[in-house]
Amino acid sequence: MGNGQREYWQSRIGLILAVAGNAIGLGNFLRFPVQAAKNGGGAFMIPYFVALLLLGIPLMWAEWAMGRYSGQHGHGTLPDTFHRMWKHPAAKYFGVLGVFLPLAIVIYYTYIESWTLAYSWFAATGKYAGITTREGMGGFLKSFQGLEQGVFTSIAAAYAFFVITLGLNVWVLYRGITGGIEKLAKIAMPLLFVFAIVLVVRVLTLGTPDPAYPDRNVVNGLGFIWNPDFSKLGDVGVWLAAAGQIFFTLSLGAGMIPTYASYMKKDQDIAVNALATSTTNEFAEVILGGTIAIPVACAFFGVAGTIAIAQGGAFDLGFQSMPVIFGKIPLGAFFGSIWFLLLFFAGITSSVALASPAVAFLEDEMKLSKKAAVSVVGAVLFVCGNMVIFFLGFGFLDEMDFWVGTFGIAFLGLVEAIIFAWIFGMIKGWEEITRGAEMKVPRVFYFILKYVTPLYLFVLLVTWAVKEGVGVLIMKGVEKPAEIYARWGARGLMVLLLVSICVMTWWAFKKRASDEGRGTKDDG
Ligand code: PHE
Repeated sequence: MGNGQREYWQSRIGLILAVAGNAIGLGNFLRFPVQAAKNGGGAFMIPYFVALLLLGIPLMWAEWAMGRYSGQHGHGTLPDTFHRMWKHPAAKYFGVLGVFLPLAIVIYYTYIESWTLAYSWFAATGKYAGITTREGMGGFLKSFQGLEQGVFTSIAAAYAFFVITLGLNVWVLYRGITGGIEKLAKIAMPLLFVFAIVLVVRVLTLGTPDPAYPDRNVVNGLGFIWNPDFSKLGDVGVWLAAAGQIFFTLSLGAGMIPTYASYMKKDQDIAVNALATSTTNEFAEVILGGTIAIPVACAFFGVAGTIAIAQGGAFDLGFQSMPVIFGKIPLGAFFGSIWFLLLFFAGITSSVALASPAVAFLEDEMKLSKKAAVSVVGAVLFVCGNMVIFFLGFGFLDEMDFWVGTFGIAFLGLVEAIIFAWIFGMIKGWEEITRGAEMKVPRVFYFILKYVTPLYLFVLLVTWAVKEGVGVLIMKGVEKPAEIYARWGARGLMVLLLVSICVMTWWAFKKRASDEGRGTKDDG
């Protein structure tokens, strides 16, 4: 079919930066250090790298191949891809996950991203200056989020930053692939790296900030994150967390990589580009992300203090401990604003990616114009974002994050591996991955992708379902009625979105079949 107006990435560097921006997100700088700290420090890196090699890299190649494959036919989302790769009426409905998951994630991701913008403003203007304890900073955050009264007496500030952030996202999406996303990546990614390197240098030169606590220093912090504690390797929870982090950080299993790859040319290299973006992401995560938040927290709060902070959740480290630390060092306002601006750039280059499958779906399948598609997605994000904002204290965000941001992406990863390696077939799949390749893809990945990746994911998902899924499903430990309602509300919203996209898919494919008179002309 190939409609002639499909956009293409303008330059190779633009493509690499855009996909790196897609992958490098809040996950790298907030989620990764917390996961590492919670799961045995350096020991976490072993299951982490195993997951990178056996799940991350192979699926990354597969997702690029899937995206480029559909893109040749003028489509950029998984309902189309799965339909082409597996000629079964159910295929497209599995593909719906590739539109639904990133849309559901971006609903709450945008809100968190807006906090980073707000905080870089607060840092620069000295709004939280003078708060010197973590508890105090926690109170500041809670009052900002409208959860209690404090420095902020209403949610107005948080709401305003949310609207600004959403507006910026919509504006970038509106300007399209080259004029919006590629341009944003070319500006935001280099700045992000400069900010991160400045912060890394600052952290590494901190030494022992408080002589009264000689063991609270950066070296011990680095030791904490890098010294492997092998006894942790027997804990299956650590393996689950590592695999989950690989999915989250590389943006796998969320349909986002295929959408970006669908804007490539037919024979454009996949092998090197996918590897380059994954390597860039891992550098940003392990080297930069791993050197900032955890070591600095160890230097100021000690190792035990850092573990305690990490147990408190992914955001305590970024929004509560970091501002306290910035308050204690010279030029803290400057370092604070670049820390939060770094997070904002990481966030926005990922949130436009998260929103892209929904936009592409409305354009490619529902035949909306770019403007109309972006407006619809923007409106959905606005309405659903309000629920996240006002039910934040009742677990609404956490409920969504578990189902879509943790379980959902691993599940779609498994579906992709099976459809790509077994139904489409590894022979054709390998041909897609290696066509136009500028490097020789090691043959061993053929077997990894065929056997190891799906099996590994399957075992992980089953273990997970047994270990944690059931508890979450029955809302174990949730007692307050308001929270139960809010969590059911979150589930209801997710089901509503999922069903709506299914109905649209059904309609689009029905129309496609009647337009094309069975429409198998360009399949295969
Ligand atoms: N990979 C990005 C991050 O680390 C965006 C993302 C978030 C992708 C959640 C999938 C799921 O933040």
